[in-house]
Amino acid sequence: MTASALRRLNAEHAVISAMMTALEAETVALEREGSFDLDLARLILRYMAEYPDRFHHPKEEMLFDAAAAKNGDFAARIGGVRQQHDALPGLTARVKETLDAIEMGESLPRPQVLQTLKAYVAQQRAHIVVEENEVFPALVGLLDEDEWAVAENRAAAMEDPLAGGTDPGPYKRLQGLILP
Ligand SMILES: [Fe+2]
Ligand SMILES: [Fe+2]
Repeated sequence: MTASALRRLNAEHAVISAMMTALEAETVALEREGSFDLDLARLILRYMAEYPDRFHHPKEEMLFDAAAAKNGDFAARIGGVRQQHDALPGLTARVKETLDAIEMGESLPRPQVLQTLKAYVAQQRAHIVVEENEVFPALVGLLDEDEWAVAENRAAAMEDPLAGGTDPGPYKRLQGLILP
């Protein structure tokens, strides 16, 4: 059961990473050619708001709560990651607003758009690195089988359409970005 819950979170990280790779490719296109695939970037941001921000981090928070209740050191160490969970949806919203403004015909300075996109990719990646290198191994050491099972049962009700879900819905185009 431990493996099942962790596998789910790692699969979701792989999808987020694939989205960031695609978004980074669009920043390169914008930098080199002066244009990028705005529809793709907007779809990625919509997905980030609708799934990782809304479900992925809350799934992790359930595990953090269980581990923090057992271990004060873990609770103290996890503060920064929890702050990132609070901040990430706002970052997603700001990038979405930037892309929506471009869609509406606003002409924003290219360096500003590049900076916004690059900072977002960097923050998402840094968050995943800390979780996978520091937080997840600590969870494995702290939680017992029953706690993993509870988390997995609750997480299974919040399925991601690109990470284990059967119907990609409006995100079909994003499926092609994820390596098998
Ligand atoms: Fe997270
Ligand atoms: Fe995560």
